[in-house]
Amino acid sequence: MTQPPPLRGAQSRAQILCLAGFMGSGKTTVGTLLARQLAWRFVDLDDRIQESAGLSIPQIFERFGEPAFRQIEAEQLRAALGRAMELGENTVLALGGGTYAQQGCPEFLRNAGVPVLWLDSPMETLLSRCMTMTGRPLFRDETSFRALHAQRLSSYQQADHRVDGAGEPAQVVAEILRRGLVASGGNEAHLVVEKPQS
Ligand code: S3P
Repeated sequence: MTQPPPLRGAQSRAQILCLAGFMGSGKTTVGTLLARQLAWRFVDLDDRIQESAGLSIPQIFERFGEPAFRQIEAEQLRAALGRAMELGENTVLALGGGTYAQQGCPEFLRNAGVPVLWLDSPMETLLSRCMTMTGRPLFRDETSFRALHAQRLSSYQQADHRVDGAGEPAQVVAEILRRGLVASGGNEAHLVVEKPQS
């Protein structure tokens, strides 16, 4: 991936927190709630991808294939970061399940100074959430789902923070706030820099 846009002057104060995790880990739900509590903007990368392509994610996969989807995903990640930095808007950004597992993505976000929080949910939770929902082209069957999860684990483990995503969304948000990973205070909201943990 190429480098994010340069930070400029006062605009560099925008804080961005990325939520990573497998399909069904709760990135969108937790991210929405967290952003609301912090009074930050919430951006869902899957939504940005769909809006930019004018197609649903299953349609993108069907018409153009996964490599084209990954290309759009990487472009939209850069665009989302660039926009937050340009506007100076504190932002919670929910990645797609495969975003952080794309080659070069952990390094890209680290170089951009954007912390990543991994919502780590047990396989049974991921499975039960994804089995009841459509619109995930990479959810085919339990065996391939488990295999993809195993393949991506080492990527998720590179995140700056790990939080258990098994509980109710409100509890997960409370845990993120309780751990002091993000500190809020109106416009003074800022991320607390702490030692990475897996
Ligand atoms: C994907 C996960 C999806 C979406 C796309 C690909 C993946 O996001 O980006 O279907 O590769 O795991 P969610 O994790 O929000 O379902």
